[in-house]
This record gives sequence, structure tokens and C-alpha cells, in this order.
Amino acid sequence: MSTLDRIAEIQAQAEAAIAAAADSSSLEDVRVHYLGRKAELPLLLRSVGSLQPTERAAVGSAANQTRKQLEMLLGAREEELAHAGIGDPGSSIDITLPGSPPLPPGHLHLITETRRDIEDVFLGLGFQIAEGPEVEYVKYNFDALNTDPTHPSRARTDTFYVDDDTVLRVHTSPVQVRAMMAQPPPLYVIAPGRVYRPDNDATHTPQFHQVEGLAVDDGVTLADLKGTLLAVARQIFGSEREILLRPHFFPFTEPSVEVDVSCFNCDSGYLPGGDRCPLCKGSGWLEVLGAGMVDPNVFAYVADHGYDPDKVTGFAFGMGIERIAMLRHGIPDLRLYFENDMRFLRQFGAR
Ligand code: DAH
Repeated sequence: MSTLDRIAEIQAQAEAAIAAAADSSSLEDVRVHYLGRKAELPLLLRSVGSLQPTERAAVGSAANQTRKQLEMLLGAREEELAHAGIGDPGSSIDITLPGSPPLPPGHLHLITETRRDIEDVFLGLGFQIAEGPEVEYVKYNFDALNTDPTHPSRARTDTFYVDDDTVLRVHTSPVQVRAMMAQPPPLYVIAPGRVYRPDNDATHTPQFHQVEGLAVDDGVTLADLKGTLLAVARQIFGSEREILLRPHFFPFTEPSVEVDVSCFNCDSGYLPGGDRCPLCKGSGWLEVLGAGMVDPNVFAYVADHGYDPDKVTGFAFGMGIERIAMLRHGIPDLRLYFENDMRFLRQFGAR
């Protein structure tokens, strides 16, 4: 049976099971069975990258649509079950009393929605999704990533230490190391997740989210990095976008770049009336991520796992999910994401 047929079959079975669930605990069983971490559909979504290139896009989008449809049906059935029994003969609920207005169904948080949008773009390009722990070893968070013991980011004022060898990860980059230890090249992965730093102001919160990316293969070049990021920028910010790579420094990449995307709010820095664009502050460019070619020292750390620094090359990048959503939606303060003010949250995620 083709994968697409199998997805359709899973969808049909799940729809029947949702309709048949008689109470919310059996409905929860159905949810875990079809959408839980170990369920076939989510596993399939994670492995889209290993499919034949000709199959990837179709399978990725069919599986995603099925996931969305099932989530919608589960929510609707949950609502239905919550109201079941009301007005049945013998029910203790008096249906002649005036009702309270029903609560509208909830929706995804903007961060979740943005993460999924980013994941969808990379799944379509053949990347797989990798995960790593938020409580991370110092050796993976820093050492394996070529970050010298004297690097300022390792200070106790810049990183939350659990003990001398363990931190709350400051970036998703350690998942690069874990992914390489788990699988030899070719490797095309992204790693979305929470990260932590002791900062708190309008553009920093102690907990935030990043998406890491890593591509390792024979003969991967900076041109591949640029082409990939251009395709991603256009899918996320609009098909007219261009990108700009500026030289930078990161310990784990050489050369390293910061990547800007052309401002989607203006034409080269100025609004039609001649005013300076408030989004890009007149520069015409918005900084969106850090990236570069994987430093050979990073490969040396995982050389035993098939990453000979003299043979393989790769590119890596890391972007902040909050920042991408801020730029897309004109959100002025990062703390808004986490304050749980419904007036803010309700403006997003309604699909
Ligand atoms: N880890 C960096 C940070 O948190 C972001 C980053 C930059 C990740 C360059 C990368 C990279 O993979 O190649 O600021």
C-alpha cells in the first residue's frame, strides 16, 4: 500500500474512532492512539525527510492535513461529549435555567503556530525533525560546539547552571551534536525547542524558542546554505523577499554569517509617503537568524560517528521563533507572548 493510501486509511479509522468515543477518557485514548508521540502519523511526519524526493512534498502535506483534520474533529467531539446528557430524562441538570454563553473553542498559541509553519517549510525541503533535552550537558551545550571555556556566554551570569556539568540549554545548537551522534551523514535536520537565558526586557525573556538547522553531506557549500535560507525566507515572509548574508562570528561555524531578509513592510527602508519604515528602521533589512558552515572542530567531536572533518561539510543555522513571529505580526514586546493576556492571544492562531 502506498504511504498516501496508508494516510487516508489512518484518517478514516481515526474519524470512525472519534465518532465512536463515548466519553472523554475514551476520546483521549483515541487521541493518544492516533496523534500521541509514538503514533504512526506523527512518526511518519517526522520521517518525511527520509522518503524519496519525489514523494516528500505530497506525503508531508497529506500527513499534515490529516493531523489538522483529526485535531479539529477531536476538539469538536470533546465539545459534544461535554454537553452530552444535559436534558436527558433523569438528568440532574435543569435545562430550563438560562444558560451561560458557551466558551469559544481555544486555538494554538502564536508561538506554536509559528513553529509549525517553520516546521512545514523545512519538512517540504526534506529535513527531519530532531529533539533534545532542555536540561543539557555542558559538554553538548558548549564544548562539542567549539565554545572555549573562557567564552563569555558560559559565565554563571549568562547561563542557568543546574550544576557544574549541567545547564538549561542556552540554544538548540546542542541538538546538532546529538543528531550527529545518532545518525551518520547525510543528515538534514531541524530542531525546534525551548531555550533559556537569564535576560528579561522587551526583546529578551528568560525562556524562549529557537529552531536549529543542520545539513551535512558530501560537498555542501555556503551556496547551499544561501539557497535554502532564501527558499525558507520566501515561504515565511513572502515570495518577493531577498536575503543578505553579513559576516559574523559563532564558535561552531566558520565562516559565520548573520542573515537579514529584505523588509516586507517598505521599499528599501522608506514608506510610500517618504517616512522612514519603523519596522526595519530605514535600513530595508531585518535580521532573522545566525548561520554558517559547520566548524571542522564540531565534526571532530563526533568523528567516531561518521563525521570525518576532512571529508564531510555542512551548514547550520539557528533562528528565534518569537523574533520571526514578532516581525511577521509587528509585535512590539516579547513579554506579550507569555503574559497570557487574552486580548493579545486572541488576535492570532484563529485558523
Ligand atoms: N546558537 C546561536 C544563538 O543562539 C544561533 C546560531 C548561529 C545557530 C549560527 C547556528 C549557527 O546553528 O550556525 O545565538
